Amino acid sequence: MIQAHDKDALRVVMRGYRSNSEITAFVPTLGNLHDGHLSLVRKAKEVADRVVVSIFVNPTQFDKAEDLAAYPRTLESDLALLKKENIDLVFLPKADEMYPEGSAARVEVDGISDILEGDSRPGHFSGVATIVAKLFNLVQPDISVFGEKDFQQLMLIRRMERDLDFGIQIIAAPTAREDTGLAMSSRNNYLEPEQRKDIGPNLYAEMLKIKEALLNGETNYLDLQVKCIDALSEKGFKPDYIEIRNAADLAIAKPENKELVILASAWLGKARLIDNITVNTTVNI
Ligand code: PAF
Repeated sequence: MIQAHDKDALRVVMRGYRSNSEITAFVPTLGNLHDGHLSLVRKAKEVADRVVVSIFVNPTQFDKAEDLAAYPRTLESDLALLKKENIDLVFLPKADEMYPEGSAARVEVDGISDILEGDSRPGHFSGVATIVAKLFNLVQPDISVFGEKDFQQLMLIRRMERDLDFGIQIIAAPTAREDTGLAMSSRNNYLEPEQRKDIGPNLYAEMLKIKEALLNGETNYLDLQVKCIDALSEKGFKPDYIEIRNAADLAIAKPENKELVILASAWLGKARLIDNITVNTTVNI
């Protein structure tokens, strides 16, 4: 496994892959890797000759300096996990390599960036779009894999890729879950053991109740959202939002929309958990 610490080293290796006409798949990460990341890496391996992973704690996507400082840096174990997966190349830039002094250009994806996660975390999606665009330009992969767990981020990346003509195929990998149903996330490390095992899984369980109601033809979305917020609050969560949206554009859902997505964000102790479930209401249960 090659480790590239700067852009020049990365470009040299990528040029080699391209000159051999090898298909490359890229998985960008913030590090602190878990099985969810590894499922993205495995998906990338299925579809490409070469897999490139980046580990970069991107400062521009953290809206609070203390969250950036607190983000776990676990480079040694991350590298050991990637080595086991037989990936080809890891890109490990430092912050000043990606953002040299005076960096001023930003990528904005209008509309989608200010709602839901973007509303709760101002500037977050501009930071994500900017770093992913920079990484796409550097790596120039054929394919890039993102998790469905971050549904809004995935939609943002797809739009950016289309609108800026990167010519990269974006593949979505399903959300990896713990046995309890809790979506895998680096944020789960902030949970106390009891929160992780017993309370946290209620987020997904309550969202599944919404899914079932939607499949049964319920269209009073507000009522479903409020009931879910109440149920989660009773269990010790502090819900940020529970929203039923049109899956195609994240607009407020209307009864005539058939492809819906339930998006949730809730605090549990020190962790702000997010999750989503897509629902095709034309499928009967
Ligand atoms: O989802 C993440 O881990 C990050 O937002 C990403 C895509 C690696 C950009 O820093």
